[in-house]
Amino acid sequence: MIELALVTGAARGIGLATTQVFLEMGWQVVMLDCDGEALEAASAELNGVHPILCDVSDPESVAMMAEEVGHIAQYGLKALVNNAGVAMFGPIGDTDFADWRRVMSTNLDGMFLVTQALTPHLAKARGAIVNISSISGLRASTLRVAYGTSKAAVNALTQQQAVELGELGIRANAVAPGPVRTKLAMAVHSQDIIDAYHDAIPLNRYGSEREIAEVIGFLASDKASYVTGQVLAVDGGFGATGIGLPALRKT
Ligand SMILES: NC(=O)c1ccc[n+]([C@@H]2O[C@H](COP(=O)([O-])OP(=O)(O)OC[C@H]3O[C@@H](n4cnc5c(N)ncnc54)[C@H](O)[C@@H]3O)[C@@H](O)[C@H]2O)c1
Repeated sequence: MIELALVTGAARGIGLATTQVFLEMGWQVVMLDCDGEALEAASAELNGVHPILCDVSDPESVAMMAEEVGHIAQYGLKALVNNAGVAMFGPIGDTDFADWRRVMSTNLDGMFLVTQALTPHLAKARGAIVNISSISGLRASTLRVAYGTSKAAVNALTQQQAVELGELGIRANAVAPGPVRTKLAMAVHSQDIIDAYHDAIPLNRYGSEREIAEVIGFLASDKASYVTGQVLAVDGGFGATGIGLPALRKT
């Protein structure tokens, strides 16, 4: 039996690294993205993938995608990784409603829509959901009123899914990455922000796409068969820190 995962935002960054981890596990992957050119380029390099163009924030696009997945997922869907996301950083006073909606519609609405549409396929395989949150959803930092709030909502959505969909044998967990040098992050991480992350991370470095993807692969696999409703930070120790690291490093 072929095990099938679906990864949203799979054309680059953490989603592409996750696709590679699933392929190494021997699974097939439905790669979903709204950037057609990037999706075509990324999927052309890989065997065992099914690229589908889809905007996760658009209910019609999601409905069409779910129908297409129905033709591929004859044994159901073993994993859904809700990874597609966008970031916008700015002070509360400068965040206009269009920015707020843009962030919410992909990071939160998209996750709700895709999961709802694919739940029958997940139930068929007693599959697992892994939602990609962020450390910004666990602790508030400046400039992240839209992004951080969307990710905090993802954590709550994950628990809702775990509680309700457990009856169908579906597990739902979230991974909250620390900073990773992807296109999304580098568009919003100024030098000040990069320095601030180093000051707050015991391992004193950014993570890699692969380090996040390995944890996603674990949570999606049967190795995590009794884990559900959890938010797992993959953050170099960010969540454990208080003050004092810069002083420690000076000594
Ligand atoms: N990079 C980081 O530092 C970091 C930290 C914490 C959390 N995250 C989260 O990880 C996830 C992946 O981010 P990344 O850093 O790999 O970014 P990225 O920009 O490299 O990749 C995001 C992918 O999602 C796709 N996408 C965006 N909007 C979409 C939509 N509406 N429909 C379908 N596809 C869409 C993009 O085309 C792109 O291929 C995001 O949810 C992000 O919030 C990233």
